[in-house]
Amino acid sequence: MHGVFLPGDETAVVKEFPKPEPGPGQVLVQVGASGICGSDIGFIYRGYKTHKGLDGAPAYKGVVAGHEPSGRIVAAGTGVTRFGVGDDVIVYHIQGCGRCRNCRSGYFISCTDQPHKASYGWQRDGGHAEFVLVDESTCIPLLGDLTFVDGALIACGFGTAYEGLRRTGIHGGEDLLVVGLGPVGLAAAMLGKLLGARRVIGVERSPERIEFVRSTGLVDDIVLADSDAVANILALTDGVGCQVAVDCSGTTPGRSTAVEAAAEWGRVGLIGEGGRLETEVSDALLHKQLTLTASWVTSLQGMEDVTRMLAAEGLHPEIVVSHTLGLLDADEGYRLAAAGAEGKVVLIPDGAPVR
Ligand SMILES: NC(=O)c1ccc[n+]([C@@H]2O[C@H](COP(=O)([O-])OP(=O)(O)OC[C@H]3O[C@@H](n4cnc5c(N)ncnc54)[C@H](O)[C@@H]3O)[C@@H](O)[C@H]2O)c1
Ligand SMILES: [Zn+2]
Ligand SMILES: [Zn+2]
Repeated sequence: MHGVFLPGDETAVVKEFPKPEPGPGQVLVQVGASGICGSDIGFIYRGYKTHKGLDGAPAYKGVVAGHEPSGRIVAAGTGVTRFGVGDDVIVYHIQGCGRCRNCRSGYFISCTDQPHKASYGWQRDGGHAEFVLVDESTCIPLLGDLTFVDGALIACGFGTAYEGLRRTGIHGGEDLLVVGLGPVGLAAAMLGKLLGARRVIGVERSPERIEFVRSTGLVDDIVLADSDAVANILALTDGVGCQVAVDCSGTTPGRSTAVEAAAEWGRVGLIGEGGRLETEVSDALLHKQLTLTASWVTSLQGMEDVTRMLAAEGLHPEIVVSHTLGLLDADEGYRLAAAGAEGKVVLIPDGAPVR
């Protein structure tokens, strides 16, 4: 089978890999779609030698890339009981030890038994291939009318945005501010409405992205990220600000916008990775009685819950996709994603199952 290898020099190379066979507790998934994530770009594609694992060596182990697969089970190993051949699944992107406290509450992402933790597309073969071998315990049922592209998006961005919003305790009737309207920010916009936000205000600095965001209809009001951004958000909210603000930009200025445009007693959720949070404390945080939350990906249960909610509402995450390419065109797909494509970039292998 074909699989995508990332040498870390801003290329994506399609190579031949043996088609794997499931061992005990494992299933073979024929990939229906596999997303390219910002972390694949930032930490592997552009030079993984700078991102070290615990052993001091690069965290990416030269495996088949891609941690956002969704597809159909075509073979099952011994001891597999919950899923079977023909079932469509989303793959939760990390296998943990299954025994530590975090794993037992569904947060394989925060497994504390590092030698037993492995992420698809980093330390074990991932989804940029025709087939991916996965542990049954990392499978999430793909429900309703959700497509494989929807599933690939839930596998990372939508799961992440769901968890970030849940931490803020967002509820009906509130105004939600989303800072940074990349794929994760757009997921927060869609899910914010699903969780009851009355209105979603988005802030974005890229005009091309703003144009794309408009075409999705996911954001009610879009504010350009310039020096007037906070004033413009306050004007849109009668001077009150937003009850909930989430940063999906991963930038210091973006986080400042979220803090400054939050309402008194508001909650600010940090979702974007990297860099620093820099803020004056008394007036900006204390005197506004703000709550800050932070979250990393989601749990197995969180991913199941958000999948069920999206399926029940007939919502399709794939609306945030701007480019779909064949697996063999991975190099072009990575180039587009690295250049800041308007929306999400997804790879689909030839002969992939459809639903
Ligand atoms: N918490 C987690 O577990 C988790 C999981 C996945 C991704 N992430 C992070 O979430 C963030 C978003 O992911 P993505 O794939 O959408 O990334 P992305 O880079 O595609 O999107 C970020 C967007 O923020 C915009 N932006 C930059 N500065 C801004 C500013 N000052 N104000 C407003 N907008 C600004 C950019 O133009 C871009 O459109 C990244 O930092 C990513 O690493 C976090
Ligand atoms: Zn991802
Ligand atoms: Zn664990």
